Amino acid sequence: MPDNSSYLVVPVFTLWLFVVAAVCVLAIVLVTMVLRARKGSRLAAVEVDPARGPLPEFEKNGQSAAAALVQWSPETLRHILATELPDAQVIVVSNREPYIHNREGDDIQLVVPASGLVSALEPITRACAGTWIAYGGGSADKLVVDKNDRIEVPPDNPSYTLRRVWLSEEEQQGYYLGFANEGLWPLCHIAFTRPIFRASDWEAYEAVNRKFADTVVAEARNERPIVLVQDYHFALLPRMIRERLPEAIIITFWHIPWPNSEVFSICPWREKILDGLLGSSIVGFHTQFHCNNFIDSVDRFLESRIEREDSAISYGGQISLVHAYPISIEWPPAQLGELPDVAQSRRQVREKFGLAENVKLCVGVERLDYTKGILDRFNALDELLTLHPEWIGKVAFLQIAAPSRGTLPAYQQLYEECLSHAEDLNRRYGREGYTPVLMITEHHSQQQVYEIYRAADVCMVTSLHDGMNLVAKEFVAAREDEQGVLLLSMFAGASKELLDALIVNPYDAAMMGDALLQALTMSQEEQSQRMRRMREIVRDNNVYRWAGSMLLDAARLRKRDAVDRAVSAAPAAPGNVISLLDRRRVAAL
Ligand code: G6P
Repeated sequence: MPDNSSYLVVPVFTLWLFVVAAVCVLAIVLVTMVLRARKGSRLAAVEVDPARGPLPEFEKNGQSAAAALVQWSPETLRHILATELPDAQVIVVSNREPYIHNREGDDIQLVVPASGLVSALEPITRACAGTWIAYGGGSADKLVVDKNDRIEVPPDNPSYTLRRVWLSEEEQQGYYLGFANEGLWPLCHIAFTRPIFRASDWEAYEAVNRKFADTVVAEARNERPIVLVQDYHFALLPRMIRERLPEAIIITFWHIPWPNSEVFSICPWREKILDGLLGSSIVGFHTQFHCNNFIDSVDRFLESRIEREDSAISYGGQISLVHAYPISIEWPPAQLGELPDVAQSRRQVREKFGLAENVKLCVGVERLDYTKGILDRFNALDELLTLHPEWIGKVAFLQIAAPSRGTLPAYQQLYEECLSHAEDLNRRYGREGYTPVLMITEHHSQQQVYEIYRAADVCMVTSLHDGMNLVAKEFVAAREDEQGVLLLSMFAGASKELLDALIVNPYDAAMMGDALLQALTMSQEEQSQRMRRMREIVRDNNVYRWAGSMLLDAARLRKRDAVDRAVSAAPAAPGNVISLLDRRRVAAL
């Protein structure tokens, strides 16, 4: 029998040579990337790497990585889109639509909802001629769309497509009022209103998320759109999109708090909600605290690998980053341009509400919601007037409460409690020509609201729990005169930024009463110092920065995916197997 061993030596030796060479090449690639990483180009919400293509503002300021010093504007967003994400299709998904068409007799009236979410996302969608998918809830919405349920908006200067999704009464009841607003809303806001979980609501929620996923897929022009999913109405949507568009960049922003894992655990569908959200490339919250709560919930309920230092979760073969992006407002707010100066605004508001010149005005502005701590404000006023009766007749509290979710029992109960509490205070402290509490439960336009902010001596934002709270930032933006005091709940995300507010615990009536007294007696000089610092913060951290940070992260994820694919394509070396998370991390650096 011929001895073949000498013939085998050469191919085996060649094969080993090849494997060793491949290992060396891969090692060199990885080491180079790690060394570059040490230079500090980690993916971060507010960093910008000049090597990636300059933004004009950075050049102007001579900054290399200080997005904090950029004047963020719609122009900055347009620039990011043009330079970092050319040809990207941006799709926004939200429940509430940016333009609502309602029937008014024989006419059709256009309503732009006063929503922070809308003003935050419109500039991006406009700048990239994107598509916005939302529930068509207006009574005339169906009359104005084309055969594909699309309409070009804004009507006076069409620049993007609004694609409306229709929901039946039952779907709306189960998905929006039921699961989103009786289940997830109280679950995520720790305001001690018990969440209600019904299997039928969950089914509607799943079905409506599926309907929106179908619409996203139908509207996607290619395999890799950038999809910006908004809020707690769509926890399942990211996974549903991921299954059908695996290469999409999906950034989901959760506009409300995320509770600790113990509270979250009471939700019967907790694993499905986490699984749904982890279909996202990035899950965004307002604060790092809520990011941490989310990561803890994943850690507790899903088989996953978590890199806390990178805020990265590897789950089911995919990586999701968990980032904080504090939402904000437009700077300067458009409404200011249309308002008279502060002195005139003040005169008009005082006249409208019949306030005497010597009466100081405290205001609260929000949707009528049990998370906002409206009753706690009344308690603070009660405390003040009890302990300091000299203020009776000298301070009034104006509460603007926009009706909201009014068919739900918890909201009806709150409405009744607010009315009776206000009546009680007015009976006890009111007198001829003096009404201590004015409770107005009507919608107000943003312009009317800004006028009220300008007239106020004190603004009370006393949420029991809040993701961010934009009223606090709007009040600050309205005060070009640098006067007025902000009382701000320590449980609102805004309290992490607006440190010059009087930070209060809304559950502590005595503390709130003291803070109210401090606000009413604060010198003009101190008001001015505090307000100036807060205005700088809101100006610098405006809503364009919020949106731009997400776009920059989306751009980096795109580039990272390209590197990731290259690393994946390299031959797998025996004994040198690295996990998906490691590969992604290396590629990110
Ligand atoms: C609050 C939340 C938003 C949410 C909105 C929904 O303002 O902070 O995140 O989207 O409520 O309000 P809606 O009237 O649409 O139920």
